[in-house]
Amino acid sequence: MTTTMPAIVRTVADLRALVAQFRARGEKVALVPTMGALHAGHVSLVEVAKAEGARVIVSIFVNPTQFAPSEDFSKYPRTFEADLEKLAAIGAEAVYAPTVDVMYPKGFATSISLEGPALARLDDVARPHHFGGVATIVAKLFTQCGPDMAIFGEKDFQQLAVVRRMATDLDLAVDVRGAPTIREADGLAMSSRNVYLSPDDRAKAPLLHRAMQEAAAAIRSGTAIETAMTRSRETITAGGFALDYLECRAADDLGAPRAGAPLRMLVAARIGTVRLIDNIGV
Ligand code: PAF
Repeated sequence: MTTTMPAIVRTVADLRALVAQFRARGEKVALVPTMGALHAGHVSLVEVAKAEGARVIVSIFVNPTQFAPSEDFSKYPRTFEADLEKLAAIGAEAVYAPTVDVMYPKGFATSISLEGPALARLDDVARPHHFGGVATIVAKLFTQCGPDMAIFGEKDFQQLAVVRRMATDLDLAVDVRGAPTIREADGLAMSSRNVYLSPDDRAKAPLLHRAMQEAAAAIRSGTAIETAMTRSRETITAGGFALDYLECRAADDLGAPRAGAPLRMLVAARIGTVRLIDNIGV
């Protein structure tokens, strides 16, 4: 079977010309924003877009402004050639891979300031500048590309809530879709950072998902949320993790649980040098 490599575009002008070609043929355009190091989770986002009959543009840009100086920007995995192969196999039409100068031209001085789900006291506590960087780059990607829809993984659930809020508040005419988290057979959520887990920590890592499932089952069968959270926090800590948070929140705005509102349980914890995040519906 022959596969067609995706077109590679590196400038805003070329991206817009490509989108204009799709539109001239009456085709829908989907953007899948990524930082590369693509795995089956990313492939599933492209599949969601394909299932909508859209032409798919995958952006690959490791965005410096969403990393704190202490975080892993320089060692974030960069696997461009392997990413292209995966995207060819799944039939993505194009990759938008701008340089830092395209995204942050000399004199860049504008960013997006956030409240609401970005200040939910979840990932924003350990990573206070993270969502500002995400929102700024995603707003740029949306305005550069002008897609009909954009697909984000539910794995980064707070990010998805922040992007949805921003698109609504700024009237960005993009349908923001969430796609389910893809897991390894033992339940570990797929993440580009999993490659950094030592074999021992990799064996322990599925505990996060199991502890959330146990808490969710307990809540569904009538246990008070805080009681279930306390038990699972203890399980996670006893399993060798340094826990940042395990919380159960309203799924839409990530505020305190409200009667009748769907619930989402979210966790972040470190094992060895790796910080893992995950979440499930309750
Ligand atoms: O989820 C990611 O990979 C990034 O945060 C995103 C949305 C591509 C923005 O840089």
